[in-house]
Amino acid sequence: MDNRAIGVFDSGLGGLTAVKELHNILPNEDIIYLGDTGRVPYGSRSRETIIKYAKQDIDFLLGKDIKMVVAACGTVSSTLPKEISGKLPIPYVDIVQPAAQEACAMSAGGKIGVVGTNATLKSNAFGKAMRSIRSDIHVYGNPCPLLVHLVENGMIEPDNQITTLAVQMYLQPLIKEKIDTLILGCTHYPLLYDIFNRLLDYKVTLIDSGECVARYVRRYLMQNDLLADRTTPGTTEYNVTDETDTFDRTASIFLQEKVTGTVNRIELA
Ligand code: DGL
Repeated sequence: MDNRAIGVFDSGLGGLTAVKELHNILPNEDIIYLGDTGRVPYGSRSRETIIKYAKQDIDFLLGKDIKMVVAACGTVSSTLPKEISGKLPIPYVDIVQPAAQEACAMSAGGKIGVVGTNATLKSNAFGKAMRSIRSDIHVYGNPCPLLVHLVENGMIEPDNQITTLAVQMYLQPLIKEKIDTLILGCTHYPLLYDIFNRLLDYKVTLIDSGECVARYVRRYLMQNDLLADRTTPGTTEYNVTDETDTFDRTASIFLQEKVTGTVNRIELA
């Protein structure tokens, strides 16, 4: 048993889709969240910059009393090398392996699409992870650089015309390939779940990477006897690197519940 918090970070608010699921399936755990809202997006930056930012995010969380680091960011997950993540003093989990496993398990025909940021698609991390699980699959990727901006600006209503047009444009090449499963390889995209689903005619299995990593965290904590043993609800502390004024409103959209924890504005070294 371990009552320390779970540390979760993202370049912005997308990682809250993982926190939402953690609240559902591990309600007694404390969570410390970091959203680097002052520097989002990471996905269009160089590999060196993404690694530098990710190290600063992780260092911030390691300065807190946490038992695990969760990279709830597709861009960091697919860019941070194992030489760094594997040397942390506590367990590190990212979204690639959990989402890859789920996609391989769900895909009947083995035609799997991946959407994410430029950096995520360039790394081919999801493709490599899936091929090591299932040799018969075909992977089709398309970067969707506009979507993080649309989501961070709250343009997520299922009938939002601008966002629908953008998703439609990005899905076109994947629809042509007749994919049967699609990994939402960026933790912002589950907010656009209904739009993706409708444009894919409800025929493609959507893999929500935020949800997958949360379930993976629960399995990991159970298997390693690291679950909290309190019976009261856990608390959540939110840390962001930009203004906090609008945080409650935007974050509650991601969390699909009211923000109840403390919200701090912090500086990253
Ligand atoms: N949530 C991040 C991801 O999953 C957002 C991308 C970005 O910062 O560009 O990749």
